[in-house]
Amino acid sequence: MVKAIQVKGLQKSFKKLRVLKGVDFEVRKGSIYALLGSNGAGKTTVIKILATLLTPDRGNVQVCGFDVVRQPERVREKISLTGQFAAVDEILTGRENLIMIAKLRHLKNPHQVADDLIRRFGLTDAVDRRVSTYSGGMRRRLDIAMSLIGKPQLIFLDEPTTGLDPEARMEVWKIVKELAKDGTTVLLTTQYLEEAEQLADRIAILHEGRIIVSGTLEELKKLFPPAKVEYVEKQPTLEEIFLAVIGKKEGR
Ligand SMILES: Nc1ncnc2c1ncn2[C@@H]1O[C@H](COP(=O)(O)OP(=O)(O)OP(=O)(O)O)[C@@H](O)[C@H]1O
Ligand SMILES: [Mg+2]
Repeated sequence: MVKAIQVKGLQKSFKKLRVLKGVDFEVRKGSIYALLGSNGAGKTTVIKILATLLTPDRGNVQVCGFDVVRQPERVREKISLTGQFAAVDEILTGRENLIMIAKLRHLKNPHQVADDLIRRFGLTDAVDRRVSTYSGGMRRRLDIAMSLIGKPQLIFLDEPTTGLDPEARMEVWKIVKELAKDGTTVLLTTQYLEEAEQLADRIAILHEGRIIVSGTLEELKKLFPPAKVEYVEKQPTLEEIFLAVIGKKEGR
């Protein structure tokens, strides 16, 4: 297995608060890995350590074959991070944000790169307006578009769909699936179990400082076999109803 991420015995405390008490996991190159956990479990802390924004207290953390403590610059060349809170410049337009990042990444044709992403992310209508006028969903889409500039091998998405409506959420899912199909490794955190079900090749649950279970959805389901078998008429979920009413179908 070619590993994009390898974490062994990772520990991190903030003063007396022991957040990570020995986290172990591996992510295969080109796969989608979902990290689940309650508020405050330490998901963002894990991502920040992997993205070299925080240093671990203990343990071994390798990203794209490089050590995050000893070779942080090499790691940064390979990754991109879409943080929990959108990191877009409010005063600039969407297009200007994209061009700015392309220039910061020293790409040869920043305007072309911006145009491609605008088309791909369906931002055409809004792209020449200031970001301060965008809805949450548009901001998220722009944020993710910005993180794809320069074709990183590995992308971290910290709660990419929090606060999005079901339609925008599905758009983000589609983008994430396409990324993985192109060979990009994706590590995402989410509060939505359905999101992990839809997207992730493997799922891990972070609880009280450790990964308490991990595996494919099938493996996780086997851990918790249904207590009894019941035959019931399947009722549509609220999400299905919402989407039917607004005229969208899941998976399109
Ligand atoms: N820089 C910091 N200084 C002190 N405490 C911190 C710092 N960063 C995080 N923490 C604490 O560490 C714990 C884990 O935080 P973290 O943001 O990693 O959780 P999370 O799983 O991402 O939660 P959420 O689902 O709410 O985003 C929390 O108790 C938080 O208050
Ligand atoms: Mg978080």
